[in-house]
Amino acid sequence: MLRTLVAGFIALHHFSDAAPPSPPPPPVPSGGVDVTPDSPPPVYHTMSDFDFQSFNLALNQEYIELDLFHYGLAKFSQQEFLDAGLGPEYQFLIEYMADQEVGHAEMVSNIIYPYGAKPCQYQYPFDTVRGFLDFCQKLTRWGESGVYGFLPHLDNRAPAELLINSITTEARQQMAFRQLEGLFPMAVWFVAGIPQAWAWTMLSPYLVHCPAENPYIKWQIFPYLNVTNNPIAIRNDSKAAVSTNVSAISYPGYEVNFQWDNPGMNVSYDLKYQTTSTAGPPKYALWVSQLNATYTPLYNIDTDNNYASAKQPGGMVFGNNTAPIFNDTMFVALTDDNPYVTPYNLSLVNPHIVAGPAIYQAG
Ligand SMILES: *[C@@H]1O[C@H](CO)[C@@H](O)[C@H](O)[C@H]1NC(C)=O
Ligand SMILES: *[C@@H]1O[C@H](CO)[C@@H](O)[C@H](O)[C@H]1NC(C)=O
Ligand SMILES: *[C@@H]1O[C@H](CO)[C@@H](O)[C@H](O)[C@H]1NC(C)=O
Ligand SMILES: *[C@@H]1O[C@H](CO)[C@@H](O)[C@H](O)[C@H]1NC(C)=O
Ligand SMILES: *[C@@H]1O[C@H](CO)[C@@H](O)[C@H](O)[C@H]1NC(C)=O
Ligand SMILES: *[C@@H]1O[C@H](CO)[C@@H](O)[C@H](O)[C@H]1NC(C)=O
Ligand SMILES: *[C@@H]1O[C@H](CO)[C@@H](O)[C@H](O)[C@H]1NC(C)=O
Ligand SMILES: *[C@@H]1O[C@H](CO)[C@@H](O)[C@H](O)[C@H]1NC(C)=O
Repeated sequence: MLRTLVAGFIALHHFSDAAPPSPPPPPVPSGGVDVTPDSPPPVYHTMSDFDFQSFNLALNQEYIELDLFHYGLAKFSQQEFLDAGLGPEYQFLIEYMADQEVGHAEMVSNIIYPYGAKPCQYQYPFDTVRGFLDFCQKLTRWGESGVYGFLPHLDNRAPAELLINSITTEARQQMAFRQLEGLFPMAVWFVAGIPQAWAWTMLSPYLVHCPAENPYIKWQIFPYLNVTNNPIAIRNDSKAAVSTNVSAISYPGYEVNFQWDNPGMNVSYDLKYQTTSTAGPPKYALWVSQLNATYTPLYNIDTDNNYASAKQPGGMVFGNNTAPIFNDTMFVALTDDNPYVTPYNLSLVNPHIVAGPAIYQAG
């Protein structure tokens, strides 16, 4: 009875006329994949070896991030964090980022269930808080870029949706670690994608021991490359900040020195992998940043000791008065040739890679 009265009241005072019929919605633009009611239901699972191995690599990346963030928080004292400008609330941010990795690892494990890897034992190249933050912003850079490189190439798009949902938070982690280190948060207009073999090459040295049942990671590992005079992002006076006008730490024409391994080394966890290369003698440094892949000639090439140098290139993404291409946390590899490659076909340069990639800290 009360209901009827209330309904009558509302009808009288607000809806005494029937609502006008909606005009028809606009037709859905034609095209698109898997967007109609008769499309097959999405399957959140990998269905090709390419997809499986992409997610297998991503899972190994998520696990090291989880371990690394916890390791750094446990390793350093409150005072050491404070000296780097990180109070308890900033430390909690790192803990929260570790928690995000728990979720990412669970999601990726579900996608490749029941063949997901388990966490491994890792080794890390730092012994200060700033070194920890610097390694985190580098590791998350190749984690993020490594996913962008394969997402549009996956056979199955449904799990690609979930992976982009996780990698967007990883992108925020990468930027937050730059801020915690006291760097300019993001010094590019575009974040480059890299092939799986590039990400695995950079990740592989930090895996020491893994459970025997972990699925073999099938991507190539190139001979390791060191930038022996990487511009130093870690300054003793730097403190965590949302943004700082850090003066440029590199510049076009900066002479960069390289050292690299020969192929055929046993590497990564339990020495289960071998580095390989199908390239001839090194001729170019390949710099990958923003939307660009740029070659500069190597000089002072010493192929007995595997040393060479190259100059950091310059250039603007879209010409004068746009963004400098070579800035931020980016990539460099050595090649025997300079095939023209673009963001969607960067992996076609892989047969020409002599060593690397390595992170180049341009800004
Ligand atoms: C930074 O601090 C470290 C350790 O305290 C010291 O060895 C190094 O010389 C300092 N670097 C600069 C550029 O002041
Ligand atoms: C920061 O750098 C920008 C670009 O070089 C400059 O326009 C601005 O004045 C600088 N701000 C400060 C506070 O140094
Ligand atoms: C990189 O970006 C920062 C921040 O905008 C700027 O101060 C620096 O000069 C840039 N470095 C290069 C090499 O362009
Ligand atoms: C790169 O540098 C690290 C640290 O100095 C060293 O352990 C490693 O052997 C070097 N690798 C190459 C390929 O030069
Ligand atoms: C790499 O490992 C294989 C198999 O264990 C072994 O036969 C080979 O000698 C190792 N190579 C090097 C360079 O240590
Ligand atoms: C960088 O890439 C953009 C997008 O493909 C292109 O328009 C631009 O010419 C490239 N810049 C250089 C210096 O190669
Ligand atoms: C870009 O700047 C250079 C050097 O100032 C100048 O020579 C060139 O004409 C400029 N290009 C365009 C497209 O404005
Ligand atoms: C990569 O794609 C570009 C077009 O974006 C094409 O011109 C180039 O030839 C391709 N590279 C290779 C090695 O096939």
